[in-house]
Amino acid sequence: MAIFIDSGDIKEIEKFAKMGIVRGVTTNPSLLLKDGVTGGMNGIKKRMVAIAKVIHPYPLSVEVTSNEKDEMLLQAKQFSQWADNIAVKITIHGPHGELDNLEVIHLLEKKHDIRVNVTAMMNAQQCFLAALAGATYVSLFAGRVNDMGYNSVEEIKKTRKLLDDFGLKAKIIAASTREVLNIVEWLHAGAHIVTVLPKLLGGMIVHPYSKLTVQQFLADAKT
Ligand code: G3P
Repeated sequence: MAIFIDSGDIKEIEKFAKMGIVRGVTTNPSLLLKDGVTGGMNGIKKRMVAIAKVIHPYPLSVEVTSNEKDEMLLQAKQFSQWADNIAVKITIHGPHGELDNLEVIHLLEKKHDIRVNVTAMMNAQQCFLAALAGATYVSLFAGRVNDMGYNSVEEIKKTRKLLDDFGLKAKIIAASTREVLNIVEWLHAGAHIVTVLPKLLGGMIVHPYSKLTVQQFLADAKT
């Protein structure tokens, strides 16, 4: 799987999808706000349906906009009707540590056959429980882990070992990229996927010495 794009910007997603290097897209309410999605749930639906089509059959993660149990279940069922490649993002717990979410995640995966991406996680123990609940994806916010002074690489390694030791199907998405070096570093640590900001994908491709080399080839070709 390797590389997802962490964005709601359809032009950026299209650009990189055409290169064949994208295996999925993740979004969240903050990214959608930043990327100009307006118009409430209709606006979200319009953008999500468009992105799902661009990257099909690769998965698009769409986050619920409520932390109320029935509303999470309802939105998850609605989102999964928008396209057959949509996974629903649910946070590991509520804004004040409410514990309803794992039950919702378990119901969605096991009873409703909806793929769930459990999000906003900061350590291996959260990811382990989300995986036990049946999550398809466990999103570890590795950049935020580093922001807090902890070592994201160690958390990714611990998470991967737990998933492998206990035969859990969940795939680790290392998220909240900050620097180009995060991508390969987190994949090497054991993340199945890194979800990358579009500007960092550009940074992975372009190298100053490659630029000079290409310029030299073109100049010599002209001569
Ligand atoms: O995929 C999660 C990501 O968008 C969060 O990133 O930069 O807000 O920590 P950030």
